Amino acid sequence: MGRKLECIDAGSEYCPCFLAESNECITCSHLQGKEFCDCNWRGVCIYQEYVWAGHKSKGVRGSYPAVVMEKKNVSPNTFIYKLRVTKTLARELDNPGAYVFMRDNDKPKFFDVPMSVMAVDSISGEIYVAVQVQGAKTKALTGPESKIVVRGPYWNGIFGQRYLKSIKDGSCLVIARGIGQAPAAKVIRYLSRSNNKVKVIVDPGKVQSVFINEFIRDLDYEVEELDLNSKQGIRVINRYLKNESYDLVFSGGSDKQHLYVIQEIDKLEKQPYIVVTNNNEICCGEGICGSCSTRIDNGVRVKACKVQLDVRKVIERRILNG
Ligand code: FES
Repeated sequence: MGRKLECIDAGSEYCPCFLAESNECITCSHLQGKEFCDCNWRGVCIYQEYVWAGHKSKGVRGSYPAVVMEKKNVSPNTFIYKLRVTKTLARELDNPGAYVFMRDNDKPKFFDVPMSVMAVDSISGEIYVAVQVQGAKTKALTGPESKIVVRGPYWNGIFGQRYLKSIKDGSCLVIARGIGQAPAAKVIRYLSRSNNKVKVIVDPGKVQSVFINEFIRDLDYEVEELDLNSKQGIRVINRYLKNESYDLVFSGGSDKQHLYVIQEIDKLEKQPYIVVTNNNEICCGEGICGSCSTRIDNGVRVKACKVQLDVRKVIERRILNG
């Protein structure tokens, strides 16, 4: 039996990728070394694309110099870059879950660090990225003279994208903590395009700042600030989940936060879709290095940088079973 996994890159201009060359394709059974066709992909045949490309991967993602248009501190440990990139790249990043790798051009490639794209202006080719300074890679982005290089586009920063894409005229709850506000901004804008009502709850967390407002101000959604680690904060979330009939809940924050949201949703009669940030260690983003590997319920290891995972199973497994 083929593995019925949903690869975020399937059918894109970056498919088939290097995994096809080593019989590790996530979707195509032929490109897993099998003799038969057993995929659930409904787009153009990936194997056929591979053959047409001369039995090679196609469309390797490039690294591009970005012009720093603005760098704004939002707290002692977090700042927001406004970067000019190519219009094509900006357009490709105009999706929930989109992210880029960033580094200072003077640093080696292993300084690449993945960063969620908060907002995109595809007409001017500008993107906004929030950086929380945590370690060597992010510290290297803080220099006043930093020459930024971005690599992308990548899209698997959020699990549950099919739910986001299917929901229309619905009622949604967005819970974002700390740097989780960055992917949440793109999610909220996306939901607004399909005429959804959105209630936004933000905890400044370790970032110590609510910086999402200026990216969603024009949408006129209600934003409530809460301490999600306090009893009071948890009571408020419980009340919203019980009293409002949400169609979709987004959790942007730690796996612990995701688990809490999932467990509260499990108690509800009408259960909304759950969409969460992908918190796995992303290093290459291409399914090659294995740093993002995670086990799914049948024990199979999958690459979380590529595969849209069932958040409920993965989070519960990871946190409850260690
Ligand atoms: S980040 Fe390298 S395999 Fe996923």
